[in-house]
Formats: sequence, C-alpha cells, structure tokens
Amino acid sequence: MFDPKAFVQEKIDELMTKIPEKAIIACSGGVDSTVAAVLVDRAIGQRLLTVYVDTGLMRKGETDYVRGMFDKLGVHYKLVDAREEFFDSLEGVTEPEKKRKIIGERFIRVFEREAKIFGAKHLVQGTIAPDWIESGDDLRDTIKSHHNVGGLPKEMALTLVEPLWDLYKDEVRLVARYLGVEVSERQPFPGPALAIRVMGEASRESVDVVRDACAIVEDELEKAADQGKMVLPWQYFAVLLPVQSVGVQGDRRAYGRTIAIRSVESIDGMTAAFSRIPYDVLERISLRITNEMKANINRVVYDVTHKPPATIEWE
Ligand code: XMP
Repeated sequence: MFDPKAFVQEKIDELMTKIPEKAIIACSGGVDSTVAAVLVDRAIGQRLLTVYVDTGLMRKGETDYVRGMFDKLGVHYKLVDAREEFFDSLEGVTEPEKKRKIIGERFIRVFEREAKIFGAKHLVQGTIAPDWIESGDDLRDTIKSHHNVGGLPKEMALTLVEPLWDLYKDEVRLVARYLGVEVSERQPFPGPALAIRVMGEASRESVDVVRDACAIVEDELEKAADQGKMVLPWQYFAVLLPVQSVGVQGDRRAYGRTIAIRSVESIDGMTAAFSRIPYDVLERISLRITNEMKANINRVVYDVTHKPPATIEWE
C-alpha cells in the first residue's frame, strides 16, 4: 500500500543530497510538476527556481491561474513568455512525433537559458511512470514520445532529477493531497499541450480554435458535475480535426471544420474508457461550439473509443 507520508519524507532526504547546488524546475501548473516543485522546495528552498513557460499552447487563462497558485504556494518562481519561439518552431510541422520532439527540444533550450541565468546545474521534472513507459526504450515500443522523456534532445547541458519517476497518477494525487497542493484534483494535461489537440500544424490560429473549444467542454462538464447530472470525468477536452464537411448555414451551403470531444474515465491513464456523458450535456457543448465560436465549425463529434485500442490524446 503506497504511503504518501513516507514517500515525502524519503524523497526530501534524498533530494537534499542529490541537489547540492542550485536547480530549476519545469512547472506547468499540473499535478505532477507542482508536486515535484513543492517536494524540491521543501528540500532546498530558495536554491530552487520554479519556471513556468508560456508556450502559447496552454489552456485559456492558464498563465494567470498558475501565477496565483505559485504566489499562494510561496515558491520562488519565474514566468517565461516563449510563445513566439514555440509557434515559429512548429511552423509547417504536421507529423505527431516530430511535433513532440520539437516541443521537447524547445522546452530544454528555454530551461538551459534560464538555468544559466540562475546558475543552476540541475533540471527537475515531474516525469511519472506512464510517461517513460509509453515513450519506449530498447525493450518497449514507442507509443508516443512524452515531451519530457522521448522528446528530450540527446545533447543537454543539465543534469535531470525526476523525483516522481516511479509513481502513477493516482499515487501522485495522494502525495498532492498529503502536501495540501490545490491542483491535486485537476484533470491531467499533456506537456505538449494544445499542440497535440490540433491534428496537423499547430498554428497560432488553430491553437486558438482548440483552446476555445476546450474551454467550452471544460465549462459544460464542470457545470454538469456541479449540478449532479454526472460525475466529473477523469479527463475531458476537445480536438480540432483536419476534416472539412458540408453543412448548411441559414439557406446557404457551408463547408466547415470539425471538433471532436474526448472524455474518458481512468485510474492511471494507462487504460481508459470513454465517458457516458448525458446527451443533453453533449448537446449543450455542441450548440455552444457551433454557435459561439467564430471559427467555422459546423460539425461536432463524440469519440466513443476506449484505450486501448485508442490512446487518450489523439496524437
Ligand atoms: P495517452 O494519450 O498516451 O495519454 O493515452 C495518457 C495520459 O498522459 C497524458 N499525456 C502526456 N503527459 N507529456 C505529459 O506530461 C506528454 O507528452 C503526454 N502525452 C499524453 C494524456 O493527457 C493522458 O492524461
């Protein structure tokens, strides 16, 4: 039986000896990296700089939310605006593994820069077991390169420290609750962020579209859960498909884009089942996406596939 209290004590002791100098941590504001930041903060205090990178690929309002959370946690942090460099490096790239590798590499270049300014030699990451299991190695097939594992460049000037390496998501949440971290119940969000929820090129425009659609899906499902219509799913979001289809607007033919809704139940992300969302909730989401968004969306579909054979994200 996993014991979060014993884990925290053991890790803090280990981190105190493992990180003798300054370190920076890559923190996205998600459960994993925030738990890692709090653990290392407890071990080395102000010798740790918590770095949040605004890649331009984050959810609506995320940067402001993360700033507020860091203020409450009292960690020593810096927000880096890297939106232009991420979009520039993703220009014209459509292949999912290539997108992941580029994002992994960009993150590392930003962290190397920040580490140099701060004088850190170590980079802490919130990598958890499913990240490296799915990224593959000599024995395992690569399902997808999680940006913080298989997406890392070969040449790297920083020593990696990954205190959550052996944990699964449900165990990370136990540690988060034990540490009183407010994001403990937040749904998972992938490191490559909205770039892997746009099928094809993650341009500024397409990311804006999927960001708005994700916000509607989150808003409606959270409302439905608050009203007791359903239990909040494990993970829920929208995907922008590279498919156009014929529709009708007023009395005119329309040729518009397609959004897929993805919502799943899972324990640790290794397997998942699609959520049985009530039809009236799906209808609200569909109406809002087609009516409110100025993005020429004329079709909304619901993904009814389990993992396996699908994965949770579409890329
Ligand atoms: P998949 O799509 O592999 O996702 O079934 C399993 C869980 O992992 C998240 N995910 C990622 N998390 N870096 C992360 O930190 C990544 O590159 C990444 N890719 C997927 C996904 O959102 C789901 O919760």
